[in-house]
Amino acid sequence: MPEGHRSRTVDPPERGLVPTFRGLLVLWWGERRLGFLGLALALCYTLLSIAIPLLQQEAIDNAIDVAPGHHRQSIWPYLIGIVALATVRLGVNFSRRFATSRVGIRIEATMRGLLYSAYLRYPRRFYDRWATGQVLSRATNDLYPIRYFIGWGLVQGVQSVMMIVAAGIVLVLVNAQLALYSAIAMPPITLLVLRFARRVSPISTEVQARKGDVTEMADEAVVGIEMVQAFGREDIVRDRFGDRAEGVRGAVLRQAGVEARHLPGLFYLPALSIAAVVYFGGRAVIGGHLTIGQFVLFETLLLQLVWPLEAIGWITNLGQRALASAARSFAWLDGIEPLAEPLQPLALPAGPLSIRFERVTFAYGGDDPDVLHDLDLDVAAGEIVAICGPTGSGKTTLLSLVPRFYDPTAGNVLIGGVNIRDLTVTDLRGAVALVTQRPVLFSAPLRDNLTAGREDHNWDDVLAACVAAGVDEFAPRLPDGYDTLIGERGVNLSGGQRQRVALARALIADTRVVVLDDPLSAVDTLTERRLVRRLKPALAGRTVLVATQRLSTVALADRVVVLRDGRPVQSGIPRDLLGADGAFSELFGDEVAA
Ligand SMILES: Nc1ncnc2c1ncn2[C@@H]1O[C@H](COP(=O)(O)OP(=O)(O)OP(=O)(O)O)[C@@H](O)[C@H]1O
Ligand SMILES: [Mg+2]
Repeated sequence: MPEGHRSRTVDPPERGLVPTFRGLLVLWWGERRLGFLGLALALCYTLLSIAIPLLQQEAIDNAIDVAPGHHRQSIWPYLIGIVALATVRLGVNFSRRFATSRVGIRIEATMRGLLYSAYLRYPRRFYDRWATGQVLSRATNDLYPIRYFIGWGLVQGVQSVMMIVAAGIVLVLVNAQLALYSAIAMPPITLLVLRFARRVSPISTEVQARKGDVTEMADEAVVGIEMVQAFGREDIVRDRFGDRAEGVRGAVLRQAGVEARHLPGLFYLPALSIAAVVYFGGRAVIGGHLTIGQFVLFETLLLQLVWPLEAIGWITNLGQRALASAARSFAWLDGIEPLAEPLQPLALPAGPLSIRFERVTFAYGGDDPDVLHDLDLDVAAGEIVAICGPTGSGKTTLLSLVPRFYDPTAGNVLIGGVNIRDLTVTDLRGAVALVTQRPVLFSAPLRDNLTAGREDHNWDDVLAACVAAGVDEFAPRLPDGYDTLIGERGVNLSGGQRQRVALARALIADTRVVVLDDPLSAVDTLTERRLVRRLKPALAGRTVLVATQRLSTVALADRVVVLRDGRPVQSGIPRDLLGADGAFSELFGDEVAA
């Protein structure tokens, strides 16, 4: 178990063909009513498409080119029959498209939903590994081929096969020998379809992957637009985007090339069959072994097979793309393990909770250097401990182990004496409130941002927390006060205002453990001092870990621990440490002297 997290992968191999197919089939089964309806309608369509040429044959043989000595029938019943069947087929075709495209759209939506909820569960390591663009692309671009394949290709493919089989049976029944001659084009068509499928498959996979690259690049430029513009890197970004776009273009062109070399052949080859029927069928007609009606039936059915044959080529291609996409999506859906939950979860004890780091060693990845080394740290229940240390010493890393954003490589973290791996993630995170170093606010009214941690809030408590965190100093002046929309579609708060909202949000969550990562780094020192005085009573009774670079925030703490290179090097009461030599006075001595 200690080495566990290193072996868990956030870069799973893509799924094999068979499991991917099975996965899609399971999804299809979920929509089986509409799916089977689509297939049944496809069967109707096929039968009607065969019945119409049969009726035409009857019309020719019984009403137009009647054999000598036979009574010539009226052509009208045949005409009416043909038009009626064609009309029914129109309705069938419409309903079939309607049913099957719904299946495709629903399966796409299901997969997007599955991916999205998986994204919400994935561990932080996943997001360290994958660029946002790739993550987005897999829930958008990658799903389109699946929708097209299931919504159109699958049933169209089945219908094409049914059509070929049904037409084959009719032809054999009418004249087996001529049917054999007309099958002349079949072997080369089969070869062509197989060759096409084999050639296009790797290119389709590449196209999907390259599209992800482009989304990733675009995302990087948009998210980092400030830096791009400030440093005049537009050209570089554009060129890099251009390279990626060129990659997609190249891959799509190669795909089009393969299609262009193979698909026209599928259109051409049936002409050979038609020629064979003209020759052999024509001789049979002259010899009196075949009626004109049967001759026309052969030609009509063969012409009717051109599209199904071409469709099979397209659908093979589409199927490859869909499978490639699904293989990527399924790999993420079942290849990435969410945070391991305990089989038999324990409960947290009542009352204030202690925090204990027991010989904790941590590295971000299997090959990365250790960031924390064999670290022991005890925080008593209700104690406020400040973690100080130079930048990069591991403060944020240490704090991120408390809500289990990461699991230690070795050692344990205990809350209230319980190993946090024995708590359900919900229990653990319900007990820990967090202010991150760069707080993120939701695109929502300020009020909702404040109460995000709690649904059952009491507005007086919210206001009290706002006073403690200094939100009351600016919130009433916002355009709509506490109802002002914050974020991308609303008012942008300053860094210091954002930090104070995050701080108030953590207080409102009213948890027994509070983890603050440099919560006041963006406010001026005067405001910081004022807020520390108000925060201290607001935090009373809670166990607090606060990482900070600033002496005025240290004033919040009962005790301070100095980290250097992931090891605690000094610990004590702030006042005592300032007087003594050591890491703490090295960090802050100048500030005090000034
Ligand atoms: N997601 C990550 N993946 C890999 N390495 C990381 C990651 N986050 C941080 N590190 C590395 O871990 C080390 C400690 O970083 P950490 O953010 O914990 O420092 P810090 O003490 O919080 O610094 P600061 O005072 O600047 O916030 C650094 O060397 C950093 O490069
Ligand atoms: Mg940090």
